[in-house]
Amino acid sequence: MGNPLTAGLAQNLIPQPCTLVIFGGAGDLSARKLLPALYNLSLDGVLPTNFAVVGFARNELDDSTFRAFARDGIERFSRRPLDEAHWADYSRSLFYVTGSFTDAQAYVELKRRLEKIDSEFGIPGNRVFYLSIPPSLIATCVEQLKANGFVADPGEGPISRVIVEKPIGRDLATARAINATLARTFDESQTFRIDHYLGKETVQNILVLRFANSVLEPLWNAKYVDHVQLTVAEEEGVGLRAGYYEEAGALRDMVQNHILQVLAMIAMEPPWSLDPENVRDAKLNVLRCLRPLTAGDIDKQVVRAQYGPGYHHGEEVPGYRREEGVRRDSTTETYVALKVFIDNWRWAGVPFYIRTGKRMPKRVSEAAIYFKPVPEILFNTNRDAPLEPNVLTLRIQPDEGFSLRLSSKLPGPKVRIYPVKMDFHYGATFGDSSPEAYERLLLDVMAGDATLFMRRDAVEAAWAWMMGVLDAWESSRTRYLPEYPTGDWSPVEADRLIEADGRKWRTL
Ligand SMILES: NC(=O)c1ccc[n+]([C@@H]2O[C@H](COP(=O)([O-])OP(=O)(O)OC[C@H]3O[C@@H](n4cnc5c(N)ncnc54)[C@H](OP(=O)(O)O)[C@@H]3O)[C@@H](O)[C@H]2O)c1
Repeated sequence: MGNPLTAGLAQNLIPQPCTLVIFGGAGDLSARKLLPALYNLSLDGVLPTNFAVVGFARNELDDSTFRAFARDGIERFSRRPLDEAHWADYSRSLFYVTGSFTDAQAYVELKRRLEKIDSEFGIPGNRVFYLSIPPSLIATCVEQLKANGFVADPGEGPISRVIVEKPIGRDLATARAINATLARTFDESQTFRIDHYLGKETVQNILVLRFANSVLEPLWNAKYVDHVQLTVAEEEGVGLRAGYYEEAGALRDMVQNHILQVLAMIAMEPPWSLDPENVRDAKLNVLRCLRPLTAGDIDKQVVRAQYGPGYHHGEEVPGYRREEGVRRDSTTETYVALKVFIDNWRWAGVPFYIRTGKRMPKRVSEAAIYFKPVPEILFNTNRDAPLEPNVLTLRIQPDEGFSLRLSSKLPGPKVRIYPVKMDFHYGATFGDSSPEAYERLLLDVMAGDATLFMRRDAVEAAWAWMMGVLDAWESSRTRYLPEYPTGDWSPVEADRLIEADGRKWRTL
């Protein structure tokens, strides 16, 4: 049985004929995510009939070695195995142009190849430019695209779209600068800022769960919700990405984008239609209602920490400051916990607890909605052992699905109450493996549907809110962060943050 939810939110995704040009096509993201995602879309038969991929980077490849590079990526990272017959056909649509992004001549060659591919594949000049490159090169690339006549205004002539990867800046000022650079060449309707979390089934399903079921929405507010916990835990340490991570840290890497996006979907008002702008307006309104964190709040509402040494899968591993490529006096956080409030009518006074970190006991992302306890009468009279509250858990990864914890009577003559779970797993219910987030998102760009992409104002609103924390950290001149042992859920400081409110982090 196919997965009926893979159709996602939009009713009719019709990708337009186009060439996808991957800037940085010979890079890591291209090999691990983009090329395998495109291959899976091709297996599903959902790519446009007239379609080609062009890798563009300085690595010395040609069409045939790029195809070998793509094949290797697919063999290692694809959701489904490589099918020889399909590959023989599909691989003919993959091409490569060698060149430096700073070299105007390379764009002349790129254009020549694209025009040739257009005529061979019957593509009417439509192009999607995927900037799978370091953020420092975005300005150069988009300026060259403009200068070399690659970009048509929306509504005039062939389609031109650009996809930008995170990070969009490292603070509000740099995010605004990147957005301004993009806006000089591409209209906002042509700009797709990707956040792969939004391509995950469970994240899309938050809206379906909330607005396609009558039992939840009446409870979805401060009257019935006690608090919400958002967790993104990674098992791995910083690995080979120390260069990037040292400049980012957990707050920028996870909270600014993925977690705030999920929070916005959980907290948003019902949009009046599924039109991309309506959905994105509703999310933006949540970000605008985040209560600013002032310097005085930071100590009480934010905890940052670094992982210490320990054992990972039986192997001794160093603490963060001892990792290769990390400064010995680094104050980059590998863990952050926050208590945030959304100051609007629906969520007044409901804390949203957020935590994310590396080297946690397991890789898991979930959102848990804790409902208020029942009154202390009938079955809930024992203050020393109160009933467990109802909790709705949305599991984003792995094992996507959701569950609802209810209280039930244990069988027998006595009234003994036990928490039970109503549990839904995508895999078990719908059989098929869910598509990778990049599959869904690439298809959306080809169809011109921006619902699951971050709009400029939302990116800047998220940064604007986060600047309160970043500025306070910057001026505190802290020299040491608390440590948590590798394989632990949290530093004690984070436990205190939530326990001060009489609550506890979920055990996952
Ligand atoms: N990798 C991931 O899992 C991941 C996850 C989330 C977001 N991202 C984002 O995705 C983007 C790409 O990341 P990545 O990991 O794929 O990077 P990467 O492996 O370094 O790939 C970048 C590619 O661009 C090429 N390149 C760099 N400078 C160039 C220039 N001046 N002219 C021509 N080609 C040039 C590189 O060539 P060389 O090999 O010669 O340097 C490489 O082929 C980044 O924005 C990153 O933040 C990546």
